[in-house]
Amino acid sequence: MTLIPVALGERSYDVLIEGGLLARAGTLLAPLARGRRMAIVTDENVRQHLATLQASLEAAGIASEAIILPPGEGSKSWATLETLTDRLIDLGIERGDHVIALGGGVIGDLVGFACSIVKRGCGFVQIPTTLLAQVDSSVGGKTAINARAGKNLIGAFHQPALVLIDPGVLDTLPLRQLRAGYAEVVKYGLIDDPDFFDWCEANAAALLAGDPAARDHAIAHSVAAKARIVAADERETTGVRALLNLGHTFGHALEAEAGFSDRLLHGEGVAAGMALAYAFSAAQGIAPTADAERVAAHLRAIGLPDTPVAAGIDASGATLVAHMLHDKKMEAGTLPFLLARGIGRTYLDKTVDLGAVEAFLDRIRNEMLGEQSSL
Ligand SMILES: NC(=O)c1ccc[n+]([C@@H]2O[C@H](COP(=O)([O-])OP(=O)(O)OC[C@H]3O[C@@H](n4cnc5c(N)ncnc54)[C@H](O)[C@@H]3O)[C@@H](O)[C@H]2O)c1
Ligand SMILES: [Zn+2]
Repeated sequence: MTLIPVALGERSYDVLIEGGLLARAGTLLAPLARGRRMAIVTDENVRQHLATLQASLEAAGIASEAIILPPGEGSKSWATLETLTDRLIDLGIERGDHVIALGGGVIGDLVGFACSIVKRGCGFVQIPTTLLAQVDSSVGGKTAINARAGKNLIGAFHQPALVLIDPGVLDTLPLRQLRAGYAEVVKYGLIDDPDFFDWCEANAAALLAGDPAARDHAIAHSVAAKARIVAADERETTGVRALLNLGHTFGHALEAEAGFSDRLLHGEGVAAGMALAYAFSAAQGIAPTADAERVAAHLRAIGLPDTPVAAGIDASGATLVAHMLHDKKMEAGTLPFLLARGIGRTYLDKTVDLGAVEAFLDRIRNEMLGEQSSL
């Protein structure tokens, strides 16, 4: 078993990673259950793993109650939050209790937020079941639902008490979701770890084919990176944690243009966004063109989009920049961008001219559309 500590003073916790962990979760959860019944929140698609968890809790002498929500981003809403908090209160959840979030980032974000407000805050445990949630959203304590004006605008920092990762549950995850989650894996290489990017280039295909060794290594390495960044800047105040948003300003604009729908998954938007951040950096003379091309080639090779057009978005630069201006990371009228000086050399740039971004996006679009019409 791999144990990765997240060092946050009195809010510290461990991330445990091991194939088959779900079936052994009971003994690990027993100290948090304190002899009381535990609530498990999951969604219809993850329900297939519920029996394994409940059996393991039962074997450890822990009774449990499942709350099954509809799958999808739509569940990060006031309506579902209300349903969930009512159910938790009906179950008699107390401050010292721990609710189990069994699912992807949607369940994790929603349950985490619910637990930050029920009884002025109760505990929770993350058992992430998508690659994205295992390598990113389950660690770090950002919780949220979506507002009419945009994603994740209503939320809280609320750290889990424990994160249990069973890479084996990814066997049932659709390939498209696995690939989208992989974008957040390769992100850690592009942020500050060029050796890990090399590893990704060599091992992404095996990882996506379900190779357990590649999968375990990618998850453990990603969680360690996330834990390090979160420990350095829990509340994103010093700029260190902001590095995790590489590709997300461009990516969110694409997601917004797709109406935050299944047309473009978050990780797909992030993949195109990271390629754009590198291509823009190269166009500005900040990064070597060869590095930007290497990033794009890797994403394309594993079936992720590397441009807006490849992501099915043919909006103009002006439209995409307008979406960016709605982004929550607007600071004093400027939009900080994560750019790169090369592979693994991401930095926060607060001087980016939005006109240059718009012109760059129009140029990429015209090149891609020109290429398509000449096929
Ligand atoms: N809190 C954070 O730090 C953070 C970071 C990144 C993303 N997020 C959020 O995470 C969300 C996206 O997370 P996601 O990609 O995990 O989406 P998701 O939770 O919607 O899961 C994707 C799909 O896979 C299904 N699923 C989950 N596990 C499965 C399994 N093992 N087998 C079969 N199907 C399974 C789900 O039901 C869903 O249909 C977004 O809302 C995003 O804002 C949060
Ligand atoms: Zn992300």
